Amino acid sequence: MILGNGLLATLDRRDQRGPYGLVPGGWLRIEDGLITETGGPESAPAPDIDLNGRLVTPGLIDCHTHLVWAGSRSDEFERRLNGETYADIARAGGGILSTVRATRAATRADLLAAALPRLDRLMAEGVTTVEIKSGYGLDLDSELRCLAVARMLGELMPVSVVTSYLGAHALPPEYATNRAGYLDLICETVLPEVARRGLADAVDAFCETIAFTPTEVDRVFTAAHGLGLPVKLHAEQLSDQGGAQLAARHRALSADHIEYLSPEGVAALAQSGTVAVLLPGAFHYLKETQLPPVAALRAAGVPIAVASDLNPGSSPVNSLLTTLNMACVLFRLTPEEALAGVTANAARALGLDDRGRIAPGLRADLAIWDAARPGDLCHPLGVNPLAAVIRGGALTRGRL
Ligand code: NIG
Ligand code: FE
Repeated sequence: MILGNGLLATLDRRDQRGPYGLVPGGWLRIEDGLITETGGPESAPAPDIDLNGRLVTPGLIDCHTHLVWAGSRSDEFERRLNGETYADIARAGGGILSTVRATRAATRADLLAAALPRLDRLMAEGVTTVEIKSGYGLDLDSELRCLAVARMLGELMPVSVVTSYLGAHALPPEYATNRAGYLDLICETVLPEVARRGLADAVDAFCETIAFTPTEVDRVFTAAHGLGLPVKLHAEQLSDQGGAQLAARHRALSADHIEYLSPEGVAALAQSGTVAVLLPGAFHYLKETQLPPVAALRAAGVPIAVASDLNPGSSPVNSLLTTLNMACVLFRLTPEEALAGVTANAARALGLDDRGRIAPGLRADLAIWDAARPGDLCHPLGVNPLAAVIRGGALTRGRL
């Protein structure tokens, strides 16, 4: 199949293409679910489908979500507006632990029913790959249940689901006076079982004063490596814990949040090739004032990804297009950087080298938009110009 006469934002700068790797009047050939050839108007073969100049991007990738949960925390939104902080609420047993109580009480069917519309809302904006973390179950059965539901979502829906085990998200109440016991449970029981069942593609942790120390995270990461699983980290969200340096030492795929990242942390990420994942939704909702060090990350050549962090507490942002706008307005990313952050660099944050750009040999995961310029995906709020989605070479949404 040949798609012709599109405005291709390839996000591929290898052929000395300009911003966005843009190819006006571009075409691409799809065979067996892969892109096998692309080109500009000078070499265009007769197309099977005329895109009429519409914008084509790689299918979007949301590389950081907590999409499987039960319950609601809209009450905490009100509490924060009445003066309590995110950390106050967490220490008082709310926050993540409130979602843990609801999630533990939910069946697989409950969780699936709650997660499906959230996933569909992401997909309605051109998402073809999504990462989903556990971390709201914390005990063995609930973590396995949440990860199994995440895997099921990928079977039910035309989207690639990549999973992360986030047992070290919060200390569960039954271990409130036994931190070491919970670390034992993660490293000796839950993580091996998760790995044995093939339920996780990576292992994540939350390194923070209200969560786990670098020493504790180090233990979890060491156990992950022992099972052959890559790691990633919620780092430097509310304070500088040196989490990025720890993540870099463990060759982490990504360090996420990083508002309080230090110059040493930036250097460590650059050295290890770890992707910096920016989560402007959490910054927005927590009314953070400390900006992530975007200029330093740029200067050091650290790849920057952008994700929704979709969760019931710090980032109830069920939209990657809204997130793109927030990355530009709040973090001053250029629209090109933001779009690379949900395509090429998001793929890298997930350790996937078969997607995220429009280039021969990669999966034919494409989003087609009624938009005249790629920056139009970042510019307005509340506008969804998605026209169609092709995933693995098949039309899965809209029409061409
Ligand atoms: O990425 N930082 C820790 N975890 C989530 C928040 C989860 C929650 O508030 O429920 C985050 O922001
Ligand atoms: Fe998160």
